[in-house]
Amino acid sequence: MIELKHLCKTYKTATQDIVALDDINLNIRDGEIFGIIGLSGAGKSTLVRCINLLETPTSGEVLVDGESLTTLNRRSLLKLRQNIGMIFQGFNLLEQRTVLKNVCFPLEIAGVERQAVRKRARALLKLVGLDGREASYPSQLSGGQKQRVAIARALATSPKYLLCDEATSALDPNTTRSILELLRQINREMGVTIVIITHEMKVIDQICDRVAVINQSHIAEEGKVSEVFTNPQSEIARDLIIPRERTVLETEGGKRLRLKFNGETTIGPHIAEMILACQAPVSILMANTRELEGVIYGYTIIELPTDRYQAEKIIVWLNCNGIPYEEV
Ligand SMILES: Nc1ncnc2c1ncn2[C@@H]1O[C@H](COP(=O)(O)OP(=O)(O)O)[C@@H](O)[C@H]1O
Ligand SMILES: [Mg+2]
Repeated sequence: MIELKHLCKTYKTATQDIVALDDINLNIRDGEIFGIIGLSGAGKSTLVRCINLLETPTSGEVLVDGESLTTLNRRSLLKLRQNIGMIFQGFNLLEQRTVLKNVCFPLEIAGVERQAVRKRARALLKLVGLDGREASYPSQLSGGQKQRVAIARALATSPKYLLCDEATSALDPNTTRSILELLRQINREMGVTIVIITHEMKVIDQICDRVAVINQSHIAEEGKVSEVFTNPQSEIARDLIIPRERTVLETEGGKRLRLKFNGETTIGPHIAEMILACQAPVSILMANTRELEGVIYGYTIIELPTDRYQAEKIIVWLNCNGIPYEEV
């Protein structure tokens, strides 16, 4: 388990102090895929770099499997870092080294014997789907392939944890999906606990179990992805889940309601039944529902008819059918 306790980080520059993290408290459990989402500048990279002490916290504690990192000596810290792999948006490969030698690198540093290093590196490249590309150089690979090399390299020392800082942000949607699938496979098959930092809700949605929303150096909210997605409590979570411009549809209609769906059924039949039962026209301004492990969740924004009587019928129907809603 990774525990962050009252974690604070202030960068001191020549002209000012920049508070990047302010009293962050989080627990990341073994075996889960934990997402941290926030806008640019929110403090995400600082947070993830504090987890392996690439950045020294100003105050507070980082505990990994119960061990407080800030008290470790240099040698223990290096050892601990072998247990925490990391991948980045920019891949950070060694351009002068072949794919195979990139993956060998952390093992060489760890002092593993040469034959064993090569064997392990080849096996890892196979795992990430780069069988046959051992002799290529990074410049000969696509972005997705480069990230696969970086993942193999991060896994070389068999870490228990893998930190991913915007690992898919430079990739197109299809490549993003395939990299996230690979991460999920690594999580399930190798039991690696994964921390995903991103500014994109769709990344969280695709693979994370739980999510923390970070805004202006603070955790705005935290919870199961399905819960935060269905019922975001903070303004920032709402904005991240439904970008504002997508909800702004110019219409002449009546009140707008956000209907919340959490798990029981697909949204289609509900809306259709409602319209049939009420005999009232309803505009669907936006449907944002997803399936997560066979459960449908998310919400839909509808616009009520301008006719007050018809609008009331819909409200009554929603109340009778136990569908939660709020005015937007
Ligand atoms: N080395 C640094 N020196 C000074 N300020 C920094 C440094 N790194 C990050 N910051 C500042 O800390 C804040 C959080 O940055 P960062 O953690 O990179 O956010 P994110 O990854 O969410 O975009 C920003 O205001 C950023 O400008
Ligand atoms: Mg960042």
